[in-house]
Amino acid sequence: MRIESPRILAALRDLAVEHRPGASLAELTSLAIGGTTDLLRIREHRHLPALIRLLRTEGIEHRFLGGGTNVLIADGELPWVMLQLTSPQPDVVIEGNSVWVDAAADLGRTVTTCARRNLGGMEGLIGVPGSIGGALRMNAGAYGTEIGKYVREVEVYRAATGENETVRDSAISFEYRHTSFAPADVMLRARLELPSKPYEEILAGIRVCNEKRRSSQPLNQKSAGCIFKNPPGGSAGRMIDGLGLKGFRVGDAMVSDRHANFFVNAGRASCADMLGLIREVRSRVRAAHGCDLEEEVIVWNA
Ligand code: EPU
Repeated sequence: MRIESPRILAALRDLAVEHRPGASLAELTSLAIGGTTDLLRIREHRHLPALIRLLRTEGIEHRFLGGGTNVLIADGELPWVMLQLTSPQPDVVIEGNSVWVDAAADLGRTVTTCARRNLGGMEGLIGVPGSIGGALRMNAGAYGTEIGKYVREVEVYRAATGENETVRDSAISFEYRHTSFAPADVMLRARLELPSKPYEEILAGIRVCNEKRRSSQPLNQKSAGCIFKNPPGGSAGRMIDGLGLKGFRVGDAMVSDRHANFFVNAGRASCADMLGLIREVRSRVRAAHGCDLEEEVIVWNA
């Protein structure tokens, strides 16, 4: 979707929004899949409610992009504009055991910044690619750690009220790859409370997690991490692997030959290829195990 009206472009400038016409989402996502649309980069959180009111009044649909590491986006010209927050600097502010972190901050870099100040707990999250905002929304987790455990409050744009609000952790439920935030809520900033731990000890934990990840996941291929959630008590990766589907392809979308729950873009895969692969693998797992796998990746199909 293209914004060309001089009046709307002027209103965007007034809200300190940077307008990048015709951005390629393939360049902004770890799967390297996605069509084109205008990208609106938000420099000041306080202007977000007014920006969303403006888009609504003008009948312009939007989606929010975080780090682009857990989304599968449709091909071609997209019928919505893409919004993205930019980070103020510094994006991580530490006071004692409290860490204020901006939604646009990189998750891995946040873990190491905190480690250098002797704040640990999040070692398991070190190799999870993406932004803090995405990690909060999905309750990102790995190797026994979930970010939700450390969240004390979240500043969020509430779709229900159209305002920015601060929500305490007691009012948020963090579940496996799911939170109680509404789909249209936007994470802005969070306060984490992290346990004190010597830097060397945190570093040792980080090394162990990095090693485990390197040995089991296709880190140098284009993916969005695990494509399906694990069913209760089960493992999507083990089930898909057990069906001999490593290396199975639809076009250039391929089940990784390292980890069967990672679907990779092995060339110039389209969204249609990836959706075709998801559909086929899901139906084979259903036929073999009677289990309907639920997507972990967020799909924006036009
Ligand atoms: N397995 C296979 N074949 C495979 C992959 C896995 O047999 O191709 C087996 C493994 O041997 C193991 C079991 O399946 O016995 C579980 O595998 P793994 O330890 O790799 O963990 P996972 O359940 O597949 C989860 C998360 C990952 C996270 C790892 C490490 C989900 C959907 N996935 O994977 O998160 O990195 O644990 O904690 O919860 C993500 O969210 O995108 C993601 C990659």
